[in-house]
Amino acid sequence: MPQVKYVDRKNTNCNKWDAQTGMFGEEGLLPLWVADMDFQAPDCVLKSLSDYVSKGVFGYYKIPDSYYHAFINWEKEHHSYQVRKEWLRFSPGVVAGFNWITQFITKPEDAVIVLTPVYYPFLHAVENNRRRLITSDLINTDGVYTINFQDFEQKIIENHVSLFILCSPHNPAGRVWSRDELKRLLDICRKHNVFVISDEIHQDLTFQGHTHIPSFTAGAYDDMMITVTAPSKTFNLAGCQNSVIIIPDEALRKKWDEYITGIRVLSGNAFGYVAAEAAYTGGRQWFEEVKEIIYGNYLLVKDTFAMELPEVIVSPLEGTYLCWFNMKAYVKPEDMKEFMQKKCRLALDYGDWFGGERFASFARMNLATSRENVEKAVHAIVRECKQSV
Ligand SMILES: Cc1ncc(COP(=O)(O)O)c(C=O)c1O
Repeated sequence: MPQVKYVDRKNTNCNKWDAQTGMFGEEGLLPLWVADMDFQAPDCVLKSLSDYVSKGVFGYYKIPDSYYHAFINWEKEHHSYQVRKEWLRFSPGVVAGFNWITQFITKPEDAVIVLTPVYYPFLHAVENNRRRLITSDLINTDGVYTINFQDFEQKIIENHVSLFILCSPHNPAGRVWSRDELKRLLDICRKHNVFVISDEIHQDLTFQGHTHIPSFTAGAYDDMMITVTAPSKTFNLAGCQNSVIIIPDEALRKKWDEYITGIRVLSGNAFGYVAAEAAYTGGRQWFEEVKEIIYGNYLLVKDTFAMELPEVIVSPLEGTYLCWFNMKAYVKPEDMKEFMQKKCRLALDYGDWFGGERFASFARMNLATSRENVEKAVHAIVRECKQSV
């Protein structure tokens, strides 16, 4: 029996389906933007949450050891990463986590580097905290993204960069960084005293033999890095707001604990822990199934474009469930919004959100939905491109 169930999320107070006006100025578009899934969470999660709810008491929660075991076992089994319980801290979301760490590690006007195009809350974290944003563009070779190590290092030196926010796997480029790439990046950071935040929220969503390497396992980087990850992308639990901050270095952890006392968010709500523990313990089969659906949707996008609009460049999906593609052969960058929204009636993430106008011919499509929705979206793009010729 298939475990993954599509849900019609319209009129459920769902950000992706019911709150388009903020970003798009209207409602009613077919939404393939916000990175959550249109699938019910695994049955084991629903059962654990309803057992918890059925007791009817929502008082203060003690985080059970079984929660930590569930996360630690998952990391070991899926990423060959031996995490220790005492390394783990909490944040109510990965974005909150990297904003806090930015404040913890840097001062206003310090320079922070990111590899663009990148998940735009990275850019906002730098700007909203009044740090200086330094970008190093990835090299794009026919949709395949690699790191410009020389540019990365030069920008670090020229701008006296003190923090690098790494996205691994990379949203939106879909890359799962190799051990060698990670080592080169982290060694450059080590050489120039750059602290690293490693956002590994997409760690589990890898395809076709691409293996996620937890940054801490790439070498000896404990004293210069903090990782933030979560079960939210893997099991569609973003609304439960339960993320993990990993700090293996004891001295750094001590400083973090002093810093976080001033914020006093030391743990999250009960529902997040209950959901996360259940998912990590019993969600494996659901997760394998959901990955197949996502990869099938990716092939649908790639193959349909290859056949109908062969000059759309679709980046290979090594990781994440977000498909990044370049429409430059068919749509002028300045017309992309009009084209996607007014003509195709789609809500996609526009390329320029990920770092500026130079990415305006790109769009990012969320593949974690039904095949029908992806089909509708791709066919609308094909139809409108053909009509405008
Ligand atoms: C790289 C990355 N980090 C963080 C997040 C969001 O994390 P959270 O919802 O836990 O704040 C996303 C969601 O798309 C993401 O792609």
